[in-house]
Amino acid sequence: MRTARTKAEVRESLAGPRRGGNSIGVVPTMGALHEGHLSLIRAARESCDVVVVTLFVNPTQFRPGEDLASYPRDEQRDAKLAAAEGADLLFAPALDEIYPDGFATTVEVSGLTDVLCGAPEARGPEHFHGVTTVVAKLLNIVQPDLAFFGQKDAQQAIVIRRMVRDLDFPVRIELLPTVREADGLAVSSRNRYLNEDERDRATALHRALLAAERVAASGEDSVQPALDAARAELSAAGIDPEYLEVRDAEDLAPARSLNGRPVLIAVAARLGSARLIDNTVIGEASS
Ligand code: PAJ
Repeated sequence: MRTARTKAEVRESLAGPRRGGNSIGVVPTMGALHEGHLSLIRAARESCDVVVVTLFVNPTQFRPGEDLASYPRDEQRDAKLAAAEGADLLFAPALDEIYPDGFATTVEVSGLTDVLCGAPEARGPEHFHGVTTVVAKLLNIVQPDLAFFGQKDAQQAIVIRRMVRDLDFPVRIELLPTVREADGLAVSSRNRYLNEDERDRATALHRALLAAERVAASGEDSVQPALDAARAELSAAGIDPEYLEVRDAEDLAPARSLNGRPVLIAVAARLGSARLIDNTVIGEASS
């Protein structure tokens, strides 16, 4: 696996394979690779001739006071893990390669970005504007055929899909299921911030989603009983969620029915210094 530091090196590495008609897949990450990221690299390896992993802790998607400074960084470890999964190229640029002096453009998807994690009391819409701006740049730098994202960040995937559609990026977005620990907790680089007690209680997020799924599976159509069942699981673990909502899985409009269009049930909660998110989709074949 080669490591590229500059956009020019990425373009140069990919020019030959592209001319040869090879398909290119990209897996954008902020590093601290775990099983969730590795599942995306594996999926890319299975369906693409050339696999590019990007590693960039994007400062513009962090709020002041969030964990930008303490975000885990270990490029050597990440490079080993990506190489072991068969990645061909690691793009690990410095900050000024992505945001040179005078950088002045922001890509904003409106509407979808000011609810759930984008609500002012959560991370704010600027978080997603940071994500779409950097992902737009990464897609333009790599020019992949396929780009791989995780269902773990469901809203992020919805926002990126909309950007790709609205701006005609010639890429297919592939969404892969959430990878979980044995006890159901969604794998996340932020789980390392949990102490033992918080780690135990954190499993309630997944239990809450399962409880909501059971309500939906029982044939219940209204949203409130599902929310009540989920909230009871959270309360039992002493968790007061930042949000717990049922929304349309495509346009994130508030959902009124569990059995109409596919719905996203999404939860976010703070446990100690960690902010955790999880979700499930009801009424769709994919997870
Ligand atoms: P990061 O948090 O590193 O996540 C990179 C990718 O891994 C995202 O698509 C995310 O949804 C996926 N992922 C994380 N945990 C997962 C899990 N448990 N199961 C499956 N997939 C999982 O998301 C970002 O970085 C950034 O916002 C980025 C898109 C790279 C832009 O900076």
